[in-house]
Amino acid sequence: MRSDLWSDEDFQKESDKFNVNLSNWRKEGRIASMLCVRNPDNENNGRRYLLTLLMDLLYLSEPTDKDLYHKINNRNFGNPYVVKHFDTEIDYDYYYSIQEYKTLKAHVSLEKKTVLEIGAGYGRFCHSILSLETIEKYIIVDLPETLCISKIYLKAVLSEELFGKITFVDALNEFSFFSEDVDIVINVASMNEMLAEVVNSYLKWIDEHSKYFYGINPVGKYHPSGIYQNKNCFEEFNVKNAVNVGPIQEVFDLWDYETIKKLVPRYIDVYKPSDKWEVIHHESSLPWLSLHRVIYRNRK
Ligand SMILES: C[S@@+](CC[C@H](N)C(=O)[O-])C[C@H]1O[C@@H](n2cnc3c(N)ncnc32)[C@H](O)[C@@H]1O
Repeated sequence: MRSDLWSDEDFQKESDKFNVNLSNWRKEGRIASMLCVRNPDNENNGRRYLLTLLMDLLYLSEPTDKDLYHKINNRNFGNPYVVKHFDTEIDYDYYYSIQEYKTLKAHVSLEKKTVLEIGAGYGRFCHSILSLETIEKYIIVDLPETLCISKIYLKAVLSEELFGKITFVDALNEFSFFSEDVDIVINVASMNEMLAEVVNSYLKWIDEHSKYFYGINPVGKYHPSGIYQNKNCFEEFNVKNAVNVGPIQEVFDLWDYETIKKLVPRYIDVYKPSDKWEVIHHESSLPWLSLHRVIYRNRK
């Protein structure tokens, strides 16, 4: 006798017409969802895959990461998608921040240093670093609209003392007058979204004012057809604007790690502030293998 789960009429109808040569039967439709990997374009499955990935990444994390998550208060402010691990709820952004932090920390001392982050988003990495290290000063340079968000978020999640260590600098109206020397400049997933000349002027600034540069950006551009099946969303995602910015505009296959690896040397070179700089570490930015983490040191 079959259970109700296996009394599905759509499954029976599709199995009656089944022909092994039918295109896409392992990707979509009732047979795929009952017998194959579930269709990721179905929004409920998107959540399934995101949380599965997060659980797997945490399962593979080093046990000592537990302390790091517990040291960052208010990580889940804003109600992100979370899974439970290390006796706490963990979301994807802070998983990512911890990995980025550990890579940096393994090569550069952060104790009492001045950090400047360009394009900090809502402030997840700033929140993490200030919670984990005794930082002298943390400067955020960003677009005015994003600064409004990071100011409010960071004030809400950090203690008054730690929030007091942050200086917010408007990238459009204030940064051209900003000439303080810093120890480390950080840029994550954002120089690739800026005009090439803006990136060059930031790199020039870094060359003149910083000892280290920690950059994490994609090695090139991918086309959304590699991800989205619905053609309408190509316009929505403003493909042209996304592909035609950043210092590297070469389009690559997002799902081919061999191609990605071949793009790494050029990527490292393009983001090097000048010939005075050397690479002290680089690695793929797991789980987004098309993003690459590079730590450069100023030799001067
Ligand atoms: C995709 S978000 C990444 C945010 C953050 N780094 C993270 O990984 O969560 C891109 C960031 O770049 C910033 N940005 C865009 N153009 C910029 C510019 N010209 N100068 C500084 N920041 C910029 C955006 O405001 C945003 O904070």
